[in-house]
Amino acid sequence: MSETSAMGRPIVIAANRLPVMRTDDGDWTPSPGGLVRALYPMLRETGGTWVGWTGNPDDDAEPFSVEGVDLHPVPVSAEEMSLYYEGFSNDALWPLYHDALRESTYDSEQWDAYRTVNDRFATALADIAPEGSVVWVHDYQLQLVPGLLRAARPDLTIGFFLHIPFPSVDLFTRLPWRDEIVKGLLGCDLVGFQRPRDAQNFVATVDQLLDVQVDDTTVTYDGRTVVAGEYPISIDVDEVEEIATGRATRQRTSQIRARLGDPEVIMLGVDRLDYTKGIGLRLRAFARLLEDGRLDPTRHVMVQVATPTREAVEHYQDERASIERLVGEINGRFSRIGLPVVHYLYQSLPYDELVALYRAGDVMLVTPFRDGMNLVAKEYAAAHIDGDGVLVLSEFAGAADELTDAVQVNPHDDRALEDAIVEAVEMHRHERRGRMAGLRDQIRKSDVQGWAGRFLAALDVASTTDTSS
Ligand code: F6P
Repeated sequence: MSETSAMGRPIVIAANRLPVMRTDDGDWTPSPGGLVRALYPMLRETGGTWVGWTGNPDDDAEPFSVEGVDLHPVPVSAEEMSLYYEGFSNDALWPLYHDALRESTYDSEQWDAYRTVNDRFATALADIAPEGSVVWVHDYQLQLVPGLLRAARPDLTIGFFLHIPFPSVDLFTRLPWRDEIVKGLLGCDLVGFQRPRDAQNFVATVDQLLDVQVDDTTVTYDGRTVVAGEYPISIDVDEVEEIATGRATRQRTSQIRARLGDPEVIMLGVDRLDYTKGIGLRLRAFARLLEDGRLDPTRHVMVQVATPTREAVEHYQDERASIERLVGEINGRFSRIGLPVVHYLYQSLPYDELVALYRAGDVMLVTPFRDGMNLVAKEYAAAHIDGDGVLVLSEFAGAADELTDAVQVNPHDDRALEDAIVEAVEMHRHERRGRMAGLRDQIRKSDVQGWAGRFLAALDVASTTDTSS
């Protein structure tokens, strides 16, 4: 079964991962992660097709369907997992696209594997996609797919959405395979980004690298027009609110508060354990505030959930070691028997447990150095159906464009971060409620269903107004 797009054409989604993973007893269950949470509800509602990797190396799973969604696994071998996923995607592109916060590894063997896997995805899509259908490709792992697919299937409408930032020209041009990547993306009718700056960076990069004609956000390349634009992603607000309203969640929230010793203020961080997220930075700010007496370990506690991710990549191993050392130091210094001041979970928690934690969190700390969007910030606001709670948000998260009622901060500025935390902790109830109302209005205005609808409508326009072909 295929979902029907706004244009009445079937739609096929391609992303590195399928939206499901195997349980211990061999069944499939929706997998965690922002992208999945964003698109799966839409596909589940309407029925649709998703092409992706199961997440397990050498998995030769046959196509299957879950909850009305057709799933087409693309196999990735153990060696490719190391070269294409851990290597090129997460050790070359990921750091480069996040302000070069860590050194990228540029390795031609990894690049070859990236090309091979992208080619495999494009071949699968070319085989599966119905005549004249819409293919929506996602994220930095699959940037060559649009170009390869366009060559094989010129009848298709092709859209791409980049979930992470697109770097400045100066950073991007470090990439030895920069031309191939941008040519891959130019196989699209529409390339979507999180923020206007990302779209501008992309157009400026294409303009510098290739012989193209650029008119604001439209690029004419190879006799076709390609549009770039911003489509900030969001969350399934109704789903989060429904979980937050449930009796089980309310009970769990009270239980969490009690287990933490009923402190006055619970500060919360929820992130994949990634060096882009600024986890260490916020822990250090918390420690300095305790040290200076601006926060009090008997009244203020922090809960940090750090979801395991990309554990085979060295930068992630280093980051984990540094965060765990820091947690140990802070607890050693400021905790009391039975009452740690930082509660640290290196675990992937079920979504309903996360929502209960969001509700328990009086102050949410989202302090990435760079982040495409950051859906945790939006989930926190959606979960606060009580209308209370304060969000401290880095200016360098995509969400900062929309969530202007957060306490926004430059995470590189130690003092500003400390002041932002104290401001959030001491904020008067009236102001807290006013800001939370603003955050909740904003996310209600643009939830994930709206995001997908806007992207698909713009893709429709981009594909039908391609005057140059
Ligand atoms: O935000 C980028 C992204 O790749 C998402 O698509 C994904 O949900 C998340 O990071 C987790 O990444 P990984 O698939 O490497 O665990």
